[in-house]
Amino acid sequence: MKILITGGCGFVGSNLAIFLKKRIKNAYVLSLDNLIRKGSEVNEKRLKREKITNLRIDVSNSKKIGNLRKFNLVIDCCAEPAIEASKKNPDQVFKTNLIGTFNILKKCLKDQSNIIFLSSSRVYSINSLKKLIKNLDLKKPLKINKTIDESFETDSASSLYGFTKLASEKLIKEFFYEKKMKYIINRFGVIAGPWQFGKQDQGFVPLWVARHFFKKKLSYIGFGGKGHQVRDIIHINDVCNIILLQIKKIKKVNNLTLNIGGGFKNYTSLKNLTKKCEVLTGNKIFIKEDKRTSNYDIPYYITNNSKVFKTYGWRPAANLDKTLKDIYSWLITSDMKDYFK
Ligand SMILES: NC(=O)c1ccc[n+]([C@@H]2O[C@H](COP(=O)([O-])OP(=O)(O)OC[C@H]3O[C@@H](n4cnc5c(N)ncnc54)[C@H](O)[C@@H]3O)[C@@H](O)[C@H]2O)c1
Repeated sequence: MKILITGGCGFVGSNLAIFLKKRIKNAYVLSLDNLIRKGSEVNEKRLKREKITNLRIDVSNSKKIGNLRKFNLVIDCCAEPAIEASKKNPDQVFKTNLIGTFNILKKCLKDQSNIIFLSSSRVYSINSLKKLIKNLDLKKPLKINKTIDESFETDSASSLYGFTKLASEKLIKEFFYEKKMKYIINRFGVIAGPWQFGKQDQGFVPLWVARHFFKKKLSYIGFGGKGHQVRDIIHINDVCNIILLQIKKIKKVNNLTLNIGGGFKNYTSLKNLTKKCEVLTGNKIFIKEDKRTSNYDIPYYITNNSKVFKTYGWRPAANLDKTLKDIYSWLITSDMKDYFK
């Protein structure tokens, strides 16, 4: 099987590339990544050690994508994934996340290949997610009793990032309509694990562990600045496992949109994450309270995994402590200080 992983030097793409090469017999895995994300150059070296080639091509370059060799499957992990980039760099978000998908889909059509698309929980409407919480100035820990399934509202604003993901999903359905090619759309919640070069606006879990480990500062940003906002976290190994299962079953189980995340057993507030990082690293650091809330931020998200469980009999295996421990082990065994300054 010939697999193209776009964004193959990113956090998800690089872990997936190495995992699939080991787990699928005779798999040929190629990465495509222009290394725009800081840290991707480290993952490119990692791929090289595993004998996986990366082509430094911009996914928005239609001609170069069209000229690539033939593949059976594309796993699209390429994106500008930071929500705040929707404001700071909207052209880049649009070009990479939407024009990029368009180019990849033209290539799929040419090759008659299948696609597994990494979509996001951020396709859901910001206002509807906010309505789940009564008092948005989160002075106290949240009472948790809701999970979000695939039927949650997507009609209203969700950030430009969310729009490009939802529009990409629609585009996939257009291209694959009445064709033999198969697609799977995975709307992931927060993914975390080793080889993730987290920033304050994307990849906060490794950032939290690293800033504790390296004794640097952090901020609770938004919703009163107390760190009570909540997300569920899925371990990258679980992401790799469900995608492998999807590849194995794609002939029979396909053309689906699924919510996938850490779920009800694996959610945390930032405040709770701090406590866990203090225990893990033995360090306590200063965390600033910044009350300003970005209009794109959401106070709460926990995945409802019912559909993915019903479809594949799959649920996440790793708990949050295992995810944090694995990130910590990665940090103490490699020289990553400069990436978490
Ligand atoms: N990490 C998460 O928590 C999470 C959650 C839900 C969905 N996703 C989605 O999963 C996918 C992978 O996310 P990630 O966390 O690995 O992000 P990442 O930033 O680590 O990886 C994306 C990779 O794409 C590359 N890239 C960006 N623009 C490019 C372009 N124009 N041409 C070629 N390469 C380009 C970057 O260099 C980077 O290596 C993304 O589509 C993201 O939206 C991620």
